[in-house]
Amino acid sequence: MLQQSLRTRSPLIARSTAAEWLAYFQANHVNSRVIDWQNTQRFCPTERQRLGHSIAIFQLGEGSEGHRLMKAMRTWAAQGGDQAWVEVLKWFIREEQRHAADLGRLLDHEGWPRLRSHWLDSAFRRLRGGWNLEMSLSILLIAEIVGLLYTRALQRATDHPIAQAVAAQIAWDESQHLLMQSCLLGLLRQGRSPRWLGLTRSLHRSLLWVTLRLVWPDHRCVFRAAGWSFAQFVRTAMTELDRAIDPSS
Ligand SMILES: [Fe+2]
Ligand SMILES: [Fe+2]
Repeated sequence: MLQQSLRTRSPLIARSTAAEWLAYFQANHVNSRVIDWQNTQRFCPTERQRLGHSIAIFQLGEGSEGHRLMKAMRTWAAQGGDQAWVEVLKWFIREEQRHAADLGRLLDHEGWPRLRSHWLDSAFRRLRGGWNLEMSLSILLIAEIVGLLYTRALQRATDHPIAQAVAAQIAWDESQHLLMQSCLLGLLRQGRSPRWLGLTRSLHRSLLWVTLRLVWPDHRCVFRAAGWSFAQFVRTAMTELDRAIDPSS
């Protein structure tokens, strides 16, 4: 009950400080969905063919240690940023690792091998490295949007109870990660000119579009099973991005 009320109420709560986000992550840790790992239902043969490889790729992408993001955050904090965000980011990374662990357990449950590498995951990790906090978060935001849409689609693509529960929890978490990163990016971009913000928005949308094009071939079976076309995928992703980088839109 508490879990349900938190889920329905929280998106409406405007959390704007590190302390509020820290409290959220700690509460979400306690209230996260209980998954019935003993459930014996398996994917049907069609689903195995459609979903298996896609889930394995997605699981790999969720498995980041977040070292470079933490380094960028610590650098920002050392240069006068709010130190309290360092702790928030630790909780955020812990949550991402839970996603990878749960998806890994789902793969194990189905007897599917875990992937060790995938070219797109490697490219994305390289792209995320070496930037300042703002750029790191901007790139991360793209991954969050893909993760959010993917897990929403996965819930619709199957009635497998464990996959549904794992996807529902991740979709919830990612929706909040987007809000958190939006909040932090807003903080970092305070005082920037409208022209600069407009340019940033265009670059962000271009990066998202390229990512969606690259992601689609590996995951289209999931999105199509959920009834989404590529055009819908792009439209929804762009709407999420616009909300995240300009919460007033
Ligand atoms: Fe995630
Ligand atoms: Fe996330």
